[in-house]
Amino acid sequence: MSAIPLIERLSHAKTHADLSLFGEAGRSLMRPSDLLVIEWAFHEDQSLKHFVEVGSLTGLSSLYFAQFCRMRGGEFHAFDKRQPLQKYRELWPALAMFHQCDVLVEANDEVVQTIEQPHSFVLLDNGNKPRELELYAKHLPERSVLAVHNFGSEVDRQCNWQAIVDAAGLTEYLTDECKEWHSSLRCWRRII
Ligand SMILES: C[S@@+](CC[C@H](N)C(=O)[O-])C[C@H]1O[C@@H](n2cnc3c(N)ncnc32)[C@H](O)[C@@H]1O
Repeated sequence: MSAIPLIERLSHAKTHADLSLFGEAGRSLMRPSDLLVIEWAFHEDQSLKHFVEVGSLTGLSSLYFAQFCRMRGGEFHAFDKRQPLQKYRELWPALAMFHQCDVLVEANDEVVQTIEQPHSFVLLDNGNKPRELELYAKHLPERSVLAVHNFGSEVDRQCNWQAIVDAAGLTEYLTDECKEWHSSLRCWRRII
């Protein structure tokens, strides 16, 4: 693909949402600034190797995240109540696992099991982030990172996220980077 359509797209973008993952290839709801934060987290902590994506939609973002695990020798797990699109799923590396289930009714055992694996980046990007935080934040072990998407809109409006992460014993992580780069991610770690 020529670089010109991408440059045009970037120069005409009015909002971050116009700058979608992979440009012409398809759309993910992750913005470039969100991806930058995730890239940075993996850069800062070279021991991160697993990725858990709760809410994978088309599976395009999963395709991208699974590469982190492939390069670091880790596992990739995606959870969603709907199957990803076949055209993306068939491009996932062999290590990438998809779990079709409802993750919001109660804490899902498979989600908990994968979150409990240290050295994971856990992205909560589901239909109800406050509920996801409530169900899963407490299961984050040391040496992992928990991130929630759409912070400042969905998360702020609907819940007292601070009380949830405090109760789970988590500490803010990369907040300055998220703010400075205009990412709607917020991240936490468990510091003992
Ligand atoms: C915001 S989208 C995920 C976007 C994706 N991470 C990306 O960057 O393109 C939210 C996803 O959560 C899924 N979802 C909503 N409620 C759910 C539930 N109760 N259990 C499992 N998945 C659910 C939807 O099917 C949808 O694919």
